[in-house]
Amino acid sequence: MGKNRSRRRPEEGILSSHPERARGQLYGRRKGPRLRGAQAELLTQLLPALNLEPARARCPHACFAVPVNDVWLEVGFGAGEHLYALARNHTDVGLIGAEPFVNGVAKLLSKLKDDPLSQERIRIHMGDARDILAALPAASLGRVMILFPDPWPKARHHKRRFLQTAMLDAIASALREGGQLRFASDNPDYVAWTLERVLAHEAFRWPARRAEDWRSRPADWPQSRYEAKALCGPPSYFVFERR
Ligand SMILES: C[S@@+](CC[C@H](N)C(=O)[O-])C[C@H]1O[C@@H](n2cnc3c(N)ncnc32)[C@H](O)[C@@H]1O
Repeated sequence: MGKNRSRRRPEEGILSSHPERARGQLYGRRKGPRLRGAQAELLTQLLPALNLEPARARCPHACFAVPVNDVWLEVGFGAGEHLYALARNHTDVGLIGAEPFVNGVAKLLSKLKDDPLSQERIRIHMGDARDILAALPAASLGRVMILFPDPWPKARHHKRRFLQTAMLDAIASALREGGQLRFASDNPDYVAWTLERVLAHEAFRWPARRAEDWRSRPADWPQSRYEAKALCGPPSYFVFERR
């Protein structure tokens, strides 16, 4: 028994308690290479203070250590470059990040560890963003951001793509009027597939007027890791508005 315990990774206790693990609905990696000492320590020492269980998302403005004027959600923040830059640039906004990949969460914690002010306004759900969206009250968010989600290129895997029509319903409900859904991808097929669904959805409008509006990353949109290594082609950036 002692032997088994010593082989246990620090993140395993947290992961095994996630309801979606039991449901088996999440696709993609949860764990990468075994975490090094300092990162493993952050998971046990810093994450509990920033951790957001879905039930607490029922009162999103109350999740943070300081009062915030708006709350934004990033789905699948990867290593957290974009989420962390937003926290630095928007000091009146509370940010919720959902990411099931433990190594990505550890990378965000490494950025946050010496930044107590940003820690006050970032909350992390190390799991499925759908559990957070299901808990959020109507019209409670100013932005939902989904950057370079896994494109699942094979037709039989399209059902795994995040922005299904049912998910657009959930996002539309969580966003307040005038709120934004931001989406980016470097995969033209995935872009076309997503545009078709968002433009068919009555809750969203796409105010873009010219190609430059979606070919260039808006100034207040920090670069993410996947954007930096975009492999399929030039990225496209979409800002949809909640009607
Ligand atoms: C291709 S990576 C992009 C990461 C980051 N957004 C970027 O641009 O660098 C997609 C990320 O979405 C995460 N992801 C997949 N399904 C998710 C879900 N249901 N909820 C939250 N994150 C999810 C994956 O773990 C992965 O880190």
